[in-house]
This record gives sequence, structure tokens and C-alpha cells, in this order.
Amino acid sequence: MKKVLVTGGSGFIGSHTVVALVESGYEPIILDTLENSDPLILEGISKIIGFAPKFYQIDCRDKTALWSVFQQEQPEAVIHFAAYKAVGESVSEPLKYYSNNIVSLIHLLEVMDRFECRKLVFSSSCTVYGQPDTLPVTETSDAHNAASPYGYTKVVCEQLIRDLAKAGCPLQSAILRYFNPVGAHPSAHIGELPIGVPNNLIPYITQTAAGIRPKLIVHGSDYDTPDGSGVRDFIHVVDLAEAHVAALRWLESTALSADDFNLGQGKGDSVLEVVNAFMRVTGVSLPFEIGPRRQGDIEQIFADVSKAKRELGWQTKLTIEDALKDAWRWQLRLAERS
Ligand code: NAD
Ligand code: UFG
Repeated sequence: MKKVLVTGGSGFIGSHTVVALVESGYEPIILDTLENSDPLILEGISKIIGFAPKFYQIDCRDKTALWSVFQQEQPEAVIHFAAYKAVGESVSEPLKYYSNNIVSLIHLLEVMDRFECRKLVFSSSCTVYGQPDTLPVTETSDAHNAASPYGYTKVVCEQLIRDLAKAGCPLQSAILRYFNPVGAHPSAHIGELPIGVPNNLIPYITQTAAGIRPKLIVHGSDYDTPDGSGVRDFIHVVDLAEAHVAALRWLESTALSADDFNLGQGKGDSVLEVVNAFMRVTGVSLPFEIGPRRQGDIEQIFADVSKAKRELGWQTKLTIEDALKDAWRWQLRLAERS
């Protein structure tokens, strides 16, 4: 059984990936500060997989601590989720974002090299594309303005990984560009845990439907899209988690040093379509009103996922409706606990 270090493994995508790794016969080791996650998620993972995975409460920026984890565990691969991800906060606190997201990766790469750990799966984002000229966006589309310091941290991290490959470093990397990850595990033992007022659409919808927020504001109805609201490629987090297993298998079989993959459903849904789908699949009413555009938002984006299908042998199985039902079940579970 192969040991895989999962940084940020108690976060939203990391926790679902830990479950997928165990289900596929890997041994995940979680490393997380718990700064943007909670021991509740570690308990939830244990309930799903039937045992408590190894966990280190360590900051990737602490190289000495990272070193000791590598010495102890000798992982064969790393999936690097650990990063800050709030786009708006990155605009007001850019140093916090550049510092964590880039220094964490640099320290990790240095320690991996020292321990001859040669396989890396890196969490990137479709934010690196900005607003593409043509849709669906392919991996070779020109990068535009990443629109936020958060986005630029992903651009820089991707470039760092590619520069290492060009320099002949023996590291092999899969750079995964997620579109909009949503949903929760169908068991409702793990899901997204936004701290404070959610910024993202789906947690805002579920908290509004649960009565925690008075109403959802749909940011913009005058975009050049079929119904005027923004369009995104929403991918169920369970499908996304499985893509990480596929990426590890790809790394085990390829001779390439680095490659990038779009991970989405390959189709766009508008904000208003998502709002209506939520009410339809849950039967719960959702107060909402149309507001102005949100600063920094792009109009629309969705992925060409043919490369991931072809090279990773992966494709999505779940729909936005599945994601909305699972996110709602998770919201109800959180309400029971509080
Ligand atoms: P998350 O915040 O739920 O998980 C990230 C985890 O990393 C958290 O548990 C946090 O405590 C931990 N962490 C942060 N800095 C750390 C550090 N220095 N050392 C150790 N742990 C640290 O986020 P997520 O939604 O699961 O995202 C995971 C990755 O995917 C991130 O790199 C994010 O940028 C990327 N991503 C997310 C989305 C999205 O919409 N969720 C979209 C595209 C890309
Ligand atoms: N939206 C609303 N009302 C809300 C929240 C969101 O109308 O209360 C709209 C947004 O304006 C946008 C769409 O819903 O049109 C999706 O917004 P999210 O905030 O859920 O997601 P983004 O596409 O803005 O960004 C997300 C992550 C980023 C990541 C990016 C690309 O937040 O971290 O996807 O992967 F970089």
C-alpha cells in the first residue's frame, strides 16, 4: 500500500480525497494546520473509512516540522492542497496569500527532494485562465489576467513546477486545474465548512435555505449569458476527489515530468439555473434577489475535459443535482450538531 502525504487533507477537497485514496488502496497521511478546517472533519473521515487516518497538525511553512514528517513516514507521493483560497481576502491581504501559498510549496519541494519523494499532485485552479476568449477552455488556452493575488499564487506555483521540470529535476507532477468544486460526501459525514459568511455560491445557498442568511443575492443579471447570470462549471467534490487517485496512477505510469489537466464537468450552469435546481431537488424554498455584479467576477467559464478523460482515464459521474442534494444533507447535519 502506497503512502501518500496529503497536505491540507482536512480541508474541503482534501478530506474527500483522503476517503477516495483509502477506497483505492492508498495510505493517506494528513498534514494540516486546521486553520481553515476542523477536527469534526477528521472525525467524519474516520466514520466513513472505519479508522482514524494518521494526522499531523503542522504548517507547510515550518520546514523542520515537514522534514520530521518525511523522516517518520517516508511518503512515496504528495498531494498538495494546503493553501489559502479566499479570492476577496487575497485582494486585501496579498502578502498573506503569496507568503503561504508559495512558501509552502517551496518548502515542500525542498523536503521532497531531500527524501527523494518524486511524485506531486498540485491543486491549481481555473482562475489561472481569467476570462478566456473561447469556451470551453482547454489547457493550452492563453492565460489571461488571473484577476486576484490568489489567482497569481497558482500561476506562480504552476510555473515553479514547470521550471523544475525544465531544469531536469527528477520530480514528476500533475497540475490539476479545478473548476468549481461543490457538494459533499453522500454520507453527510464530511463537506465544506466555510468560516464566517460564505463567499461561494453553494454554501451561501444552503445557509440561506437553512435560515442562517436572510436571502441570496445573485450577483449580476446583465452578463452576456443565456439568462444574464454568471456561468460556471460545477464539479461534485466526490468526482474531483477521484481525479486525484487517477492523477496518482497516471504519475505511476508516465514518463512525463509535468502536465496540467482541467477538472470540471465540461459544461456550464448559470447561477439562476443552480438556484432553481436547488429548489427543485430539495423542495426547499430559497429567498433570493438580483443584485449588481460582484467585483472581480468573470462572466463565464467551463472546461474542455477531454485531456483528463484521455490521459487520466477519469470522468465525472455525478451531476449538479447530486451535488446540491449532498450539500443540503451536509447543511442539515451541521444544523443538528449546533
Ligand atoms: P480548504 O481551505 O477547505 O482546505 C485547505 C486546507 O489547507 C485547510 O484545511 C487549511 O487549514 C490547510 N492549510 C492552509 N495553509 C496551510 C499550511 N501552510 N500548512 C498546512 N495546512 C494548511 O480549501 P479547499 O477548497 O479544500 O481547496 C484545496 C486546494 O484547492 C487549495 O489549494 C485551493 O486553492 C485549491 N482550489 C480550491 C477551489 C475551491 O473552489 N474550493 C478551486 C480551485 C482550487
Ligand atoms: N454568486 C452569487 N451569489 C453569491 C455567491 C456567488 O451570485 O452569494 C455567483 C458569483 O457571482 C459567480 C458564481 O456564483 O457568478 C460562482 O461564484 P463562487 O464564489 O462560488 O465561485 P467563483 O467562480 O467566483 O470562484 C471559485 C473559487 C475560487 C476558484 C474559482 C475557480 O472561490 O477559489 O472558483 O476555481 F479559484
